[in-house]
Amino acid sequence: MASTESPVSSSWLSELQEELAALQRRSLRRTILTPRDGQGETLRIDGHDLLNLTSNNYLGLAGDSRVVDGSIEAARLYGASVSASRLLCGSTPLHEELERRLAALKGQEGALLYSSGYMANLGVLTALARSGDVIFSDALNHASIIDGCRLSGASTKVYKHCDLEHLEELLATNPARRRIIVSETVFSMDGDIAPLASLVELANSYDAVLVLDEAHATGVLGPGGEGALARFQLDPSGIVVIGTLSKALASAGGFVAASATVIEYLLNRSRPFIFNTALPPSSVGAALVALDIVSREPERRAQLEMLSVRLRDGFAVAGYPLSTSETAIVPLVLGAADAALALEGKLREAGILSRAIRPPTVPEGTARIRFNLIATHTAEDIDRVLAVVPSPA
Ligand SMILES: Cc1ncc(COP(=O)(O)O)c(C=O)c1O
Repeated sequence: MASTESPVSSSWLSELQEELAALQRRSLRRTILTPRDGQGETLRIDGHDLLNLTSNNYLGLAGDSRVVDGSIEAARLYGASVSASRLLCGSTPLHEELERRLAALKGQEGALLYSSGYMANLGVLTALARSGDVIFSDALNHASIIDGCRLSGASTKVYKHCDLEHLEELLATNPARRRIIVSETVFSMDGDIAPLASLVELANSYDAVLVLDEAHATGVLGPGGEGALARFQLDPSGIVVIGTLSKALASAGGFVAASATVIEYLLNRSRPFIFNTALPPSSVGAALVALDIVSREPERRAQLEMLSVRLRDGFAVAGYPLSTSETAIVPLVLGAADAALALEGKLREAGILSRAIRPPTVPEGTARIRFNLIATHTAEDIDRVLAVVPSPA
């Protein structure tokens, strides 16, 4: 009798196994950790309580009872799923209200929800750019931006991280039907902030579309949590702003906020919007309540700022090079992937969870521990971290 596994399938399976083994040898294999108790400032993992310094729950709202109630109430009203895309019948009044609120938060004429921030980047870049266009993308942009650039069919020119001279040189030498500059406002792995005023100026002088991903700024920066543009009092009109509900807004989903024309265009042309089931009501309900808290409880942002200054100062005093971080993302760059894994292990033994970030998430040779703070952490929590992290060699 013939073997149940054909030679073809077993050869491709062994190729996958070899690749996984190679990742293991290079300290690059990834695993899932499953906390047993949600996403607060401590996590119960494998029977241990660990201080959580690795999530994007910046304002500590993921387990907030008001946000959870908003989620439950929305599910009771509109069901567990909308079972259709927005353009069929998957819309609810809550989806519309959330879009209005996000547009207002971002100072834009309209907003459109996507099923994730990843999809929002894919959806915007693939709709706005095509073959014959050029996208100018910061070297440290998130994978979802990189994938959006690739999928769009446009030519992509990567400029050195936050390097305006390099960007201008590329703009000056790459004419195109349409030019798009895309950058994160707060960079996800370094916590630094893009030179936003200069990006706006360059976009204006070269008649380029400016797309800014505010995933790590929304809810966190600006007097009312509007984001990085508001923090620097920049006029958002004309800018296409991407965001996510999955970080400070304690939910899941993504969005774009822009002029009415851009929103109408995306609604008609953006495939990840058109061909994707709309967000479940529970996610929309949670984000609506989180938005209320974002504007009403600025003390959460103040606490986050205090904690991140304390951690950055502590690392500087210990002898680490000054970080470019200006936010609640505080990286400690170690270089080799195994060094980052070793520190992750040491922290974990001391009851602290902060995961090693390794290539390809960060460039080769810049593996790190990225400490992500939560507004509900305390100064004592930060001091615990500083006591465990060894001084640089
Ligand atoms: C800069 C940036 N953009 C987009 C995303 C994707 O957002 P989401 O998790 O909602 O898909 C992330 C999340 O990791 C991010 O860091």
